[in-house]
Amino acid sequence: MLTGARLFLIAIAAILIVVSTTWLLTRPHQPFSADDPRLTPGNAERGRLVFAASGCASCHASPGQTDRLKLGGDLALASPYGTFRIPNISPDPLAGIGSWSVADLANALVAGVSPSGQHYYPVFPYPSYTAMTLDDIRDLYAFLHTLEPIADRPQPHDLALAFRIRRFVGFWKFLFFHERQSEGLLNGDPVHDRGAYLVEVLAHCAECHSSRNIFGAIKPKTRFAGGVSSEGVGFNPNITPEGIGSWSDNDFVELLKSGKTPDHGYVGWSMADVVRNTSELSDADRVAITRYLKSLPPRPTPHP
Ligand code: HEC
Ligand code: HEC
Repeated sequence: MLTGARLFLIAIAAILIVVSTTWLLTRPHQPFSADDPRLTPGNAERGRLVFAASGCASCHASPGQTDRLKLGGDLALASPYGTFRIPNISPDPLAGIGSWSVADLANALVAGVSPSGQHYYPVFPYPSYTAMTLDDIRDLYAFLHTLEPIADRPQPHDLALAFRIRRFVGFWKFLFFHERQSEGLLNGDPVHDRGAYLVEVLAHCAECHSSRNIFGAIKPKTRFAGGVSSEGVGFNPNITPEGIGSWSDNDFVELLKSGKTPDHGYVGWSMADVVRNTSELSDADRVAITRYLKSLPPRPTPHP
């Protein structure tokens, strides 16, 4: 027979189990500590290329001016969850990330966790950046520190009530985030594998060219097969061989260099900005991206 007292104890135990499991599952963790001997600032010149390939300026450049190296933030990103406001990542010590260590930057890019130990929302594409090499992070850090400090403070995010609690991002990470894992399929060919790193990790091409589930995570079967743009207007095209299998190597390289497509038009929308980044890469890197894209499994275009 269950007496009232026993029932009460069982209920308390159940609550404790649920609370502690939730706490454990959603806990932010920082894989790198400030005294990690691997994490010293790297080479700023190489970091310039990492910065271009990763498209940091596409989101973080201050809107309404033309200098893409002024990283004052404040661009508004509309989404089904509310409006995100891009933070300032210029080297300003107060408004930006001037006081950060290399480990702080590594924890943000690899684990999606802030220096104060809070989860970042995955609109910051760390689910792709998570597989960045430590050398690239060190170089990126050095490059960011050569830029102009901007004292502007961006507005805070304006999100629906339920999404304001950062701790809940821990559930999302538990379900969909694979720390330090790239989705790239490697095959031992150095050009192909460099392409896999550029496409999957740095340039995060799948973040736009895929469809998402109701939690905003990429549906694996639609990876690169196209999807509705995050602002909900327009459809980002299928870039697997199912979509653009007729393109020659040159067509791809030309697109990544100048934005010109084989049907004599130019890409527009957010892709025009991506091309500003890929146009700064070496020809070898554009060839590598091409080889990887052509090796992707053909996938049917999902219906929005
Ligand atoms: C698609 C847009 C986008 C791109 C591309 C992007 N970011 Fe961000 N980034 C964001 C958003 C949005 C946030 C805010 C996340 C949050 O508040 O949880 C953010 C946050 C950050 C932060 C934390 C800032 C702080 O004050 O805590 C850093 C550092 C950062 N990004 C660096 C980078 C770097 C370096 C790159 C390129 C490798 C990059 N970002 C590319 C959107 C982007
Ligand atoms: C910020 C979102 C975004 C990212 C990131 C992005 N793309 Fe795109 N891409 C688009 C959009 C939007 C279009 C459609 C442009 C148009 O119709 O003018 C497009 C078009 C293309 C096309 C032309 C397809 C066609 O049928 O004409 C190719 C190829 C392409 N992207 C490849 C890439 C590659 C490779 C990357 C990574 C280096 C990438 N994209 C990253 C948004 C993005």
